[in-house]
Amino acid sequence: MPFRPSVPSAPEIPLSLRGFLRAVRTNALTMWPASAYRQDMSVSTFFGRMNVLLNTPDAIHHVLVGEPGNYRRSPASIRILRPITGEGLLLSEGDDWKLQRRTIAPALAPRVMPMLAQHIASATERAIARLHQQVGEPIDLLATMQTLALDIAGRSMFSLEMDMYGAPMRRMLTEYAGRYSKPHLLDMLLPASIRSPRDFGRMRFKRRWMGLIETILAVRMATPQPDVPRDLFDLLRAARDPETGAGFSTEQLRDQVATLILAGHETTAVTLFWALLTLAEAPEEQEWLAEEAASVTIDTENPFGSVPQLVRTRAVVNETLRLFPPAFTVVREAIVKDRIGDLDLPPRSIVFIAPWVLHRHHALWQDPDLFCPARFMPGQPPPARFAFMPFGAGPRICVGAQFAMTEAILVLAAIAGQFRVTRADTRPVLPVGIVTTQPDYAAPVRFLPR
Ligand code: HEM
Repeated sequence: MPFRPSVPSAPEIPLSLRGFLRAVRTNALTMWPASAYRQDMSVSTFFGRMNVLLNTPDAIHHVLVGEPGNYRRSPASIRILRPITGEGLLLSEGDDWKLQRRTIAPALAPRVMPMLAQHIASATERAIARLHQQVGEPIDLLATMQTLALDIAGRSMFSLEMDMYGAPMRRMLTEYAGRYSKPHLLDMLLPASIRSPRDFGRMRFKRRWMGLIETILAVRMATPQPDVPRDLFDLLRAARDPETGAGFSTEQLRDQVATLILAGHETTAVTLFWALLTLAEAPEEQEWLAEEAASVTIDTENPFGSVPQLVRTRAVVNETLRLFPPAFTVVREAIVKDRIGDLDLPPRSIVFIAPWVLHRHHALWQDPDLFCPARFMPGQPPPARFAFMPFGAGPRICVGAQFAMTEAILVLAAIAGQFRVTRADTRPVLPVGIVTTQPDYAAPVRFLPR
């Protein structure tokens, strides 16, 4: 019988205002009532503003692909992300976004993957050597995956092991998550241009965080630019807008670096965490994966060349992204009056397109709550349109999706080939939605050599 991971229970009836506020602050995955996982659309009001959750392909297409210009990021998302990503790609809008996107996208295009895969492989090798020294001991899986993902992000960005900067970065991100990343009432109600009480603390944090990024950048800016790019930073520094020929200023470079490091490492770290934790609870699937890992030798000269052979590993990563989408919801605010199907949407309405709900929707999946990687194996019917969208959709689809998949597949295959992972305690681990889909506690696991 396939394994059914634990989840927080969905409220039986739609939440009251107070319940909604509590849910967004403590666990946003509990925002949606049980009925939302069966319906096409759920509509509620929040201080006179319409809140709508969309589950049908046409409605999702309309907002993300058809008329994305009618929407922008919500005030709460901007408030929470701006202190750590600055004016980088994630939060830019309009023409500024277009310019940034077409300048950055080539640095993360498929042809760059072989170079990035080298960085992934060398960081993974070091992490695996460390795991061999801790064989059989209870290990904090989340911290281990966060350290590895940050090391990969640092090497891919700067060809730099993150030994020196990794610990202060993680400390600051943990502080931020604990103190500033939970939306309060005024964060949601006030337009992003007006400071909410918590924004003052966030701005102080931003100065310290950007100071740290500037320190790393300064070392790098002092070295000459090589002819052949070594990493993302060389690509970003050389990047020019294909139409205007303009490059990034030092401040823009800093914000892009902060954006890519943040957006890139936390999401992949939680993906690897949930994949390994779930495999520890689903031994049959773990053995099935290990068989593939044992039969494929990852080419050390060209690790990216081995990715197409890792079909079971890709299926496990996809199933993990389905059950534990790191970006559990995509949120937009309507800029103008809009109409979605039969629904008239006033300006300032908030639209949720929630991979968390879509990926567990009863009309879109068979046995939506079971961990069943085989559903993503070649030959299986593809998921329904917009039923599986861990990286979003439309022009603002994740610019790092290829990189994230390459990283998750190579790391998982390397670990599954060398270790059997088991849980070191029995407490159920529940997903919690706060910025990303986190575990509710630092679940320990053991790595046993194969
Ligand atoms: C499993 C890992 C990842 C997941 C699940 C994920 C998910 C997402 C999603 C859902 C969006 C769209 C948000 C929206 O439309 O509001 C997004 C955007 C973005 N992601 Fe990722 N991401 C991942 C990894 C990465 C990596 C590795 C990078 C960079 C190296 C990255 C950089 C970005 C950036 C810069 C954007 C904004 C793009 C834009 O607005 O044009 N992400 N991501």
